[in-house]
Amino acid sequence: MSTIDAAFLDELRARTPIAPLIGRRVKLSRSGRNWKGCCPFHGEKTPSFYVYDDHYHCFGCGVHGDVISFVMQIEGKSFPEAVENLASEAGLEVPKATPQAREQAVRARTLGDVLEAAQRLWTHTLRQPEGRPGLDYLRKRGLTDDTITSFGLGWASDKRGALVSALREQNITPEALVEAGLMSADEEGRPKGELFWGRVTFPIRDRRGDLVSFGGRILGDRQPKYLNGPETALFSKRRLLFGLDRARAAIRAPRPKGAHHIEAIVVEGYMDVIALHQAGFTGAVAPLGTALTPEQLEILWQVAPSPILCFDGDTAGRRAAIKAAETALPLLSTERGLRFCMLPEGEDPDSLIRTKGRATTEQFFTSARPLADILFDLLAEGTPPNPTPEQRATLRARLVEATGKIADKSLAGEYRSSLLDRFFQTYRGRKGSKPGSKGFGNTSASSWTAPAGPSAPDTPLDGTAAKLAILTALVLRYPRLTGSVADAWCQLDLPPDLAELRAAVLDCTASGTMFDDYPDEDTVFARMMDVLTQQGLGPRAKALIRTTCIKKPGKQVDDGLMDTPPEVQWWHFYASTNRAAFEADIARDNEAAMRDGVDAAQWDRLRMRILALTSLRRLEDDSC
Ligand code: UTP
Ligand code: MN
Repeated sequence: MSTIDAAFLDELRARTPIAPLIGRRVKLSRSGRNWKGCCPFHGEKTPSFYVYDDHYHCFGCGVHGDVISFVMQIEGKSFPEAVENLASEAGLEVPKATPQAREQAVRARTLGDVLEAAQRLWTHTLRQPEGRPGLDYLRKRGLTDDTITSFGLGWASDKRGALVSALREQNITPEALVEAGLMSADEEGRPKGELFWGRVTFPIRDRRGDLVSFGGRILGDRQPKYLNGPETALFSKRRLLFGLDRARAAIRAPRPKGAHHIEAIVVEGYMDVIALHQAGFTGAVAPLGTALTPEQLEILWQVAPSPILCFDGDTAGRRAAIKAAETALPLLSTERGLRFCMLPEGEDPDSLIRTKGRATTEQFFTSARPLADILFDLLAEGTPPNPTPEQRATLRARLVEATGKIADKSLAGEYRSSLLDRFFQTYRGRKGSKPGSKGFGNTSASSWTAPAGPSAPDTPLDGTAAKLAILTALVLRYPRLTGSVADAWCQLDLPPDLAELRAAVLDCTASGTMFDDYPDEDTVFARMMDVLTQQGLGPRAKALIRTTCIKKPGKQVDDGLMDTPPEVQWWHFYASTNRAAFEADIARDNEAAMRDGVDAAQWDRLRMRILALTSLRRLEDDSC
């Protein structure tokens, strides 16, 4: 048996992707998710030498092995020499083969035996009267008995000392339990207490399926909710993904022609993995309560070229997504990508399957977006829709910096240009209305009243709600308004149905392509309605326009406004929602204009707002 530490060999294998290594000697071509080539160990003209995620196999002569045996076989090296070579390429140092290391190798095997003994006890206990609360809990969470058995879930008795005394009968000492990570130790290393009691137990297996540790969940809401075993000779949290043994087998298993391949899906917790497997998503894995590490990513990529990472749609989830993207950037290559799936706020895959069902859950996975697509949104988070020059510069620097982290230089170049494209698209056309886009003039009375239908709002709107509805309806009807009003519009506290429309409108006007080739207002409107209709928002948008843009003398819409450009109308209603702030804004911008000068577009914007204010004042004078 090898005297080199097993954990080190694992790390070496994980850090040495096999296909590039073999590819230096053998011309490989893709064969599904694997590679094939002509066997370097026997003469052949048609390829029967296959390279998988962590091993090779020749169907012609039968050789097979991993990265280490490949170097041994092809270069005639001994095991330690091959390890030494690979380690220096991977920038690792081979630990000295001391007597301690030898002893540790033997111990690792016995630690595995200790863990297996605990596993037998706990799975047995789960089916005893004593384990009933645990079994009931798991069933209540929707797990079938098959799932419970196949994941080896168990119950650690809540009687302290139960594990120690049961295993003592098998000649397993408390000291061995400490080493296996099942008991804590005091400062002198003496066994102190059992870690797992009164908990459902989850066996943690490495990617080969060997038991290396346990997780335990307490019933109900007590804390800590989950316990994971400590680092041991067998268990390294940074390198382990829960469920990978099963995911790997599922992904590699031959599938009928035409069947969907199995996606590797990274989720947050034990229960998510198990619920997903039970629902047929057999490629699910999870880190153990920590952010994804570079080691875990490397290991994942040996199984799947572009795994899907799932995150909760809340702030913490988005932060975790950014973190994962940052970890991944230096490691990306054309062969190693990531996709991101943002779940609805507050949902995890386990709850999603149970509340929304399998099909909906699958849609979320299918809609996962490649890192290249989502990176912009992640990095632009917090940048307002109408950023100041300083904010634009900051974001641009952030984008360039992120792409600088990608080690693969040609890929970095691609990321850089696509991020900057997005940057210019997103912030073009939001800087203010373009000179020459004064086409607002011809959209006065007739189009203002055109959509008028017989219907009044279903429920009478109070003053503010009506104004918010009108402000939104105006932008819907005249999307070009976003160029000048987006900032102010975004600051309004809209009710959810209007806020959703606002988000959709800003999305589809952001790129500016809607306004390419200077179409007239009706064409722009039609283009946008198409997009909204695709998103299921068409009826709501139409209803809003119908119920707000009708002429209601003396109410929301004043006769005096009928010939007014939409932009002035917009500012008019905006001003009447917060008059003081609006006046202060204008005074400030006016002063700045006098001091620093303005270009045509800025002047136009200011003029529209002043006109709005004037019309509002006139209205007030009239009514007194
Ligand atoms: P979550 O708190 O999201 O739990 O933790 P969950 O998976 O949804 O659990 P249920 O559905 O309430 O049972 C996600 C993961 O973080 C780790 C565990 O690995 C868990 O699966 N965790 C969580 C801990 O290690 N300790 C804790 O106290 C909580
Ligand atoms: Mn959960």
